Amino acid sequence: MCGIVGYVGKNQAAPILLDGLSKLEYRGYDSAGIAIRDGEKEAEVVKAKGKLINLYEKTNNGNDVKGHCGIGHTRWATHGEPSEINAHPHVSDDMNVVAVHNGIIENYQELKDKLIRKGYELYSETDTEILTKLVDYYYKKYKVGPIDAIAKTMVRVRGTYALAVMFKDYPDEIYVARKDSPLILGVADSDCFLASDVPAILKYTRNVYYIDNLEMARMHDGKIDIYNLDGDIVPKDTTEITWDAEAAEKGGYEHFMMKEIHEQPKIIADTFNSVYKDGKINLSEVGLTDEEMEKIKKIEIVACGSAYHVGMVAQYVIEDLCRVPVRVELASEFRYRKPLLTDEDFVIAISQSGETEDTKKAVVEAKELGANTLAIVNVVGSSIAREADNVFYTLAGPEISVATTKAYSAQLIAIYAIAVELGRVKGLIDDAMYKHYIEEIQALPDKIEKIIENKERIQWIANKFAYSKDVFFIGRGLDYAICLEGSLKMKEISYIHSEAYAAGELKHGPIALIDDGILVISCLTQEGLYEKTTSNMTEVKARGAVLLAVTTYGHYNIEDNVNYVTYIPKADEHFMASLAVVPLQLMGYYLSVARGIDVDKPKNLAKSVTVE
Ligand code: F6R
Repeated sequence: MCGIVGYVGKNQAAPILLDGLSKLEYRGYDSAGIAIRDGEKEAEVVKAKGKLINLYEKTNNGNDVKGHCGIGHTRWATHGEPSEINAHPHVSDDMNVVAVHNGIIENYQELKDKLIRKGYELYSETDTEILTKLVDYYYKKYKVGPIDAIAKTMVRVRGTYALAVMFKDYPDEIYVARKDSPLILGVADSDCFLASDVPAILKYTRNVYYIDNLEMARMHDGKIDIYNLDGDIVPKDTTEITWDAEAAEKGGYEHFMMKEIHEQPKIIADTFNSVYKDGKINLSEVGLTDEEMEKIKKIEIVACGSAYHVGMVAQYVIEDLCRVPVRVELASEFRYRKPLLTDEDFVIAISQSGETEDTKKAVVEAKELGANTLAIVNVVGSSIAREADNVFYTLAGPEISVATTKAYSAQLIAIYAIAVELGRVKGLIDDAMYKHYIEEIQALPDKIEKIIENKERIQWIANKFAYSKDVFFIGRGLDYAICLEGSLKMKEISYIHSEAYAAGELKHGPIALIDDGILVISCLTQEGLYEKTTSNMTEVKARGAVLLAVTTYGHYNIEDNVNYVTYIPKADEHFMASLAVVPLQLMGYYLSVARGIDVDKPKNLAKSVTVE
């Protein structure tokens, strides 16, 4: 998705903006641009199609563009093809208003017609040019200041936006507005920053303002004033970001994804410890007191992508430990099926970014229907975190690689903590089992460490299959949920077509696709399902498949039936997803590397999906 940055202060703006944009590259983009004001002079706009390096080159690393105030943008095309002309910043006809925007303007056509009627000429195919010119139109028509002109625009516009604007008459000032798109504002001494995400400004400041929906701000002289739609100042305090700046850097790894895979033991421990106090899981800070949990009769989980796969794991784990029915639904589907929720229902939304539009809208819908909502979110202060009644923050730190690994793992831990605690409250987990489950969760980090230590084995296997066209994943029960995630990891970063099937479903259709040499990866972590899955493996082997099994140490007789095995340590079966997913993450990673793909920024994908 698009990323925006802005800076006004005592330093040269362009290098800071380029640096900020480089930290937002993970969001996915096809072009980039900056606009810089040098005092009273007209803004200088530089844009480049393709990678950010092109913009670095065009501006001599930013050094050739002088000025202390500027805005920048990485564009992920929605309206209009990727091109220099469609790239942001956009400008009004006389350069009175210069703007960057992340989001989508829904009534774009209607506003475009209006502007054309008023004599405006359009040079691009973007909704942002319309937005920019509409601000200019209201600014001139009503002869008002920037805040009023932006407020009038906001009233006319339908859609989502994080908007940053510079006005010709106001050098050294940046104005912003937000609705449903991520935006944070930072201050440090006499400098002000804005960005779509924390890593872009973390090097410069930790003091940020979270600007709410339908609010605007004026940034100038190291100060940020926040306004509501009426133009009144909204008093706000800064929040301190506690993320380690280094956590947003590669730290010696070749790719963020590999770094983030290695961070999993630590973030799992951190996430669990955040709710583990004096030998007990304590969820009161996430709104789950014993009293609240007693009321839970059924759970609806909404999420997208990998977070949805966490929901699939949750369904098995919570239903088994708590005997509470759990329904998992893709957030994009949930919204449109007129969900039957009431104030008796409990909805869990899972999201790393906290900005996924479908998940956010699902939370809004659930709240409107009266349900109690809990968000499991990684990014503090994100839209979903603010929307939900309560938040369980995963402590995964900034996740930069587009393909999630550590956030997925942290979300699993949040689910385990909820499941074990809910099972205790429901009287289904006695003291001895409670202690056992806690110890098993606490033992996961060391076990993951051990799996990562053996990563060369996965690399060796991956290299053999680097040119596969199709790969299948099969498993039963919880192993099926793990396969879904393994398959997504593979297809999104290696571009190899892959599918995950519940092993028992194979003979109902998919087995027709099995041919000589096709790789079938099976997960076998659930003792009760081991034999059933091995017989499904035999079925595909008989039709020419090459088999790779992921199973626990001890199942050595599997080597008689499969071509390759990767062993993982044993843990309580409810928590095996945390271990089995790691070789699958590594498999996706090494296949991607072997195929020469940009692991951290796969094509067509964005880290935070802020459109429907
Ligand atoms: C896959 C991946 C995506 C996200 C999905 C939801 O590796 O990262 O499938 O899981 O886009 O994103 P969040 O968790 O930010 O809501």
